[in-house]
Amino acid sequence: MRTLRTVSEVRAALRRPRSEGRRIGLVPTMGAFHEGHASLFRRAHQDCDEVVVSLFVNPAQFNDRADLVAYPRDERRDAAIAAELRVDYLFAPTVEEIYPHGFSTSVSVGAISEVLEGEHRGREHFDGVATVVTKLFNIIAPDIAYFGQKDAQQTLVIRRLAEDLNLPVEVEVCPTVREPDGLAMSSRNQLLSPGDRARAAALNRSLQTAQALVAAGQADVRLITAAAETELRNAAIQPEYVQIVDPDTFAPLARIDRPALAVVAARVGTVRLIDNQMLSPSPR
Ligand code: PAF
Repeated sequence: MRTLRTVSEVRAALRRPRSEGRRIGLVPTMGAFHEGHASLFRRAHQDCDEVVVSLFVNPAQFNDRADLVAYPRDERRDAAIAAELRVDYLFAPTVEEIYPHGFSTSVSVGAISEVLEGEHRGREHFDGVATVVTKLFNIIAPDIAYFGQKDAQQTLVIRRLAEDLNLPVEVEVCPTVREPDGLAMSSRNQLLSPGDRARAAALNRSLQTAQALVAAGQADVRLITAAAETELRNAAIQPEYVQIVDPDTFAPLARIDRPALAVVAARVGTVRLIDNQMLSPSPR
C-alpha cells in the first residue's frame, strides 16, 4: 500500500491504472477504522481493480470545535489495518492540502441538508461534507465511491450532489455493520465510557421496537416513535430526535403506508450517536 499526501501524488499514481482501464474504487473516511470501514474496503475490492481510501478528518463539517478536537486519530494504526485489507492507496492529506490559503468555495446541497442532522448540527455540517466529497471525487476521479448506510442522510446528500453536478461516479451505499449488542459501528464509539457504551445499545433497541410494531401492523407514526423514545428513556438517554421519514427525501411521514426509514440521534454521555433502520410492514 502506498500512502499519498498531495493531490499531485494521487493524480500521478492513478494516471497509469486509469489509462489501462482499471476500475478505481474510493472509500472516503475520517479514520479510526473499525469493521464498518473494513466491510467497505472489502466491497470496493470486489468491484474495483484499485482501492483508494481517503483518511481526512474534515474540519469543515464539524460545527463544534470540541468535537473536532476529540475526534479519534491514529494514522499509524489505520494504515496498518488498510494495508492488511489490501488497500492500494491511502490518501492522507494535511488540512492545508485540502483547504489551502485563500480557499473560499463551498458546495451546498439544497433541502436534504436542512432537516434532522442539518437542523441539529447546523447547515455547515452537510456543506462541509458536500465540499470535501466533491473535492475527493475531483482529485481521485473514482469509478465507484462507497459509503455506509449508518449515515443515511449523508448518503442522500452525496447522491444528490453527484446527480446534480453530473459527477461521473457511482455512489454505492453498503449495510451498517453492528456490534453483537446491535450498536452501529462508529469511530465515535471508542469515545464512550464503559457505562455509556452499555447504554448506547438502546439506540438500536429503539429502532427494533419501531420495526416490531410496524411488523405487527401498527401504522401510526406517533405511536411508533413514542415507543421508540420510551426505549431510549428507559436507558436514561434523551433523544435529539426519533423520526420516521421517507427514505428518499427525509420528509416526515404520519403513517406507514410506503417504504419508511426510522432515524434516531442522541447524546450518550458526551458522545453524539446516530442510527437508522428501514421499516417493513408484515406482508398481509
Ligand atoms: O462519513 C464520513 O466519514 C465523512 O463524513 C466523509 C464522507 C469521509 C466526509 O468527510
